[in-house]
Amino acid sequence: MVTRYQLKHPEYDLRCIDCAGEYENDALYICPNCGGLLEVRLKEVELDFKFDGNIVGVWKYASMLPVRIKPISLNEGGTPLFETNLGECKAYVKHEGLNPSGSFKDRGMTVGVSKAVELGRKAVACASTGNTSASMAMYAARAGLKAYVLLPAGKVALGKVAQALMHGARVIGIKGNFDVALDLVRRISELENFYLLNSVNPFRLEGQKTIAFEIVDKLGYVPDRIILPVGNAGNISAIFKGFKELKRFGMVDDVPKMVGVQAEGANPVFKAFKEGRRDIIPERNPETVATAIRIGNPVNAKKALNAIYESGGLSVSVSDREIIEAQRILAGEEGIGVEPASAASIAGLRKLENDGEIARDETVVCITTGHLLKDPEAVIRVCGEPIEVEAEIEEIRRVL
Ligand code: F0G
Repeated sequence: MVTRYQLKHPEYDLRCIDCAGEYENDALYICPNCGGLLEVRLKEVELDFKFDGNIVGVWKYASMLPVRIKPISLNEGGTPLFETNLGECKAYVKHEGLNPSGSFKDRGMTVGVSKAVELGRKAVACASTGNTSASMAMYAARAGLKAYVLLPAGKVALGKVAQALMHGARVIGIKGNFDVALDLVRRISELENFYLLNSVNPFRLEGQKTIAFEIVDKLGYVPDRIILPVGNAGNISAIFKGFKELKRFGMVDDVPKMVGVQAEGANPVFKAFKEGRRDIIPERNPETVATAIRIGNPVNAKKALNAIYESGGLSVSVSDREIIEAQRILAGEEGIGVEPASAASIAGLRKLENDGEIARDETVVCITTGHLLKDPEAVIRVCGEPIEVEAEIEEIRRVL
């Protein structure tokens, strides 16, 4: 058989972002010494890819990904980078909704589920606002693992629940929000020996860092800014880590400013940023139309705030009205259909431009994290149902 990529695996260990503890144990996701978040630290890499503009997917960058087996893959990544007329600046959209399950989570899950298999685990679990569960269920099915999902009952978009169910996950709605679900699934995973695949898992974030690689691969340079929605705050941390690694290994000279966008009703990272803090004050009752980022106690907040400060970036907060307006503009004027949370990045771009934060000569990449079809009910609430008429030419012409 011909394999397209000679998979060369990097040397790495896990480091605690708080106490700097170093571990060679892939089964950890939290520092056993201080309870801090762990990060994969690449030690030695032997790069076997080139930034040649050929965007083919996550595993093009295998030589920077900490997996030692043939990965469980569904052809994730390789998403398009569209040039748009969304801003005064040069504004691109990287449409992560075009991943196999319809969200960026697939980049993380191909690595996370591969790690579960590598570790010999039989079951994976997550709490989710929807997309993580859809993606995890899909990759677990592919790997032949059992999948367990805790969701905030009644607060997850229908398309996402449908995916998790059809891919065979055991889906349980709890009477509580995402933060409560995450706390519960962490404890249950411990008791039941499930491999936890929320973004507290450092291997998942490794897959997501390939968004940075693809942006540089496609553009041929590092953009000035990355703008993306922030929920549990994993993705902004992962993408920044990707850029930092490129710099560390001498492939680029700079990193972009990281801009994290939150919804007004669920914006603890924004508030911490405003006050110059590196930790958040959890919000007990987060609420927003962008259910994917309806999170009051983001587990990766510290990594995200580090990314924002270290990159010279910022955090911005947008209203539900601004999110929906951005969703309509993106769909109606650019042909890019995204779910509300993803539109937060465009709403953030518009707000920053209005505030004069972005210079006209800047290149900005907005990450649209999930596909429009994920949340059809939100669309119907905004756009209404289609008009119905009798099946007659004149009737139809009347309403055209
Ligand atoms: N956009 C979408 C569409 C999401 O589903 C999520 C997170 C985010 C943005 C935020 O990413 O958590 O890395 O800051 N969804 C998670 C889930 C929480 O369970 O699907 P983050």
